[in-house]
Amino acid sequence: MNKFKDKSWNFERYDTQNCVHNLHSYPAMLTPSMVKRILNEYSKASDIIMDPYVGSGTVIVEAMRYGNKAVYGFDLNSLALLIAKVKSTRVRKNNLHLNLKSVLRRYKHYQSKNLVFNNIPDRTKIEYWYSKNIIKDLSRLKRAIELIENKNQRDFFNVILANVALDASYKRPNEFKMYRMTEKNMSLHKPDVISLFSSKASINIKRITNYFNMLSNHSEVHIKKHDSTKRTTLKDGIIDLIISSPPYGDSSTTVAYGQFSKLGSLWLDYPEIIGLDRSLLGGKKLVEKTLPPSMILNRLIRKLERKDETRANSVGSFFNDFWVSACEFNRVLKPGGKAIFVVGNRNVLGFPIPTDEILSEMFTKMGYIHDKTIIRDIPSKKMPRFIRNRTTNMNKIPLMNQEYIIFLTKGRGN
Ligand SMILES: C[S@@+](CC[C@H](N)C(=O)[O-])C[C@H]1O[C@@H](n2cnc3c(N)ncnc32)[C@H](O)[C@@H]1O
Repeated sequence: MNKFKDKSWNFERYDTQNCVHNLHSYPAMLTPSMVKRILNEYSKASDIIMDPYVGSGTVIVEAMRYGNKAVYGFDLNSLALLIAKVKSTRVRKNNLHLNLKSVLRRYKHYQSKNLVFNNIPDRTKIEYWYSKNIIKDLSRLKRAIELIENKNQRDFFNVILANVALDASYKRPNEFKMYRMTEKNMSLHKPDVISLFSSKASINIKRITNYFNMLSNHSEVHIKKHDSTKRTTLKDGIIDLIISSPPYGDSSTTVAYGQFSKLGSLWLDYPEIIGLDRSLLGGKKLVEKTLPPSMILNRLIRKLERKDETRANSVGSFFNDFWVSACEFNRVLKPGGKAIFVVGNRNVLGFPIPTDEILSEMFTKMGYIHDKTIIRDIPSKKMPRFIRNRTTNMNKIPLMNQEYIIFLTKGRGN
């Protein structure tokens, strides 16, 4: 297998702080410079790009910057789709400033009258994550934003509301999973909701206007809620290039996208957030025992089964879902088109899971050429270096600090 390390893909010094990618954080975001390089080296302006696991929209932003003809982004997480949509929608800067002023004015008015609105998500659960005063403040802020008439402008401020809802909560910062702060930290946690909102809004207005001022071309953007295991409405063979980073494994044992998005989504009234992690790749129980066409996977599952059948089934379920999705990617990708996946290899029960090799094997079975796999270090990936051990509750289990960029070409005869 053509698989090697290449330091030139590490991109240690990329600063996302001041750019549109940073409108709202998201777990396991793709490195923008890497996507930019892939587009420069493997796409043309006339190409149609697709990211079936679009998350917060890194591929969309970079494809618009490159000026590709069109870009499709799919995901099941409504908050991720909102972030991706806001990053890729041109809005008037003057109106953003006017709306920001109106939101701040309305909020202060509600606060002076001690008004609280009937817009608070399920109170019993929400009080576990916020003090009573913060709940009132978020309710006022939510109401002040709801009154913005223009939907694109409202969406822009809703992304900031989701961001503030996270920062003002008792959820431990720098963890993607839902762990509450210690009692001591909770008593010290006194966020000022409106200052947080106002400063984030000012930075985000700069980020979005700088980005759109830089764009010289116009790309068609299509962002849609869609389950990758289902058929899309796209015609056969219309996609030139797929660039995507699928989840590392099922949400309960790897990155829980639903958990990370829960508080923001509750304040934005996205009810489907409850149970989202179970609808993502590998979230369902394995019903069919047949596995995708990968010898490596089949051997691995037999080893895992000897140790723990449930864990073996969850790994099988993840790859089964991916295989079903891959068949749909194959349908929409044109012959000769490229599929480039960025994956991480994790351990289950002490066994390394070579996701990159399993994916490459699946695609070569479909008639693809595996061009190469590049191994890169991820110095600045938004991922904790360790995850909590579920039995000891200690930060013990090392997470991956390398990722694998798999380059595949669809055979012309497919
Ligand atoms: C690694 S993240 C993508 C991050 C993205 N590249 C970015 O830069 O923000 C993987 C994404 O896959 C999505 N996902 C998982 N299972 C899915 C499914 N069956 N259909 C669609 N999206 C799914 C998750 O919601 C998550 O946003």
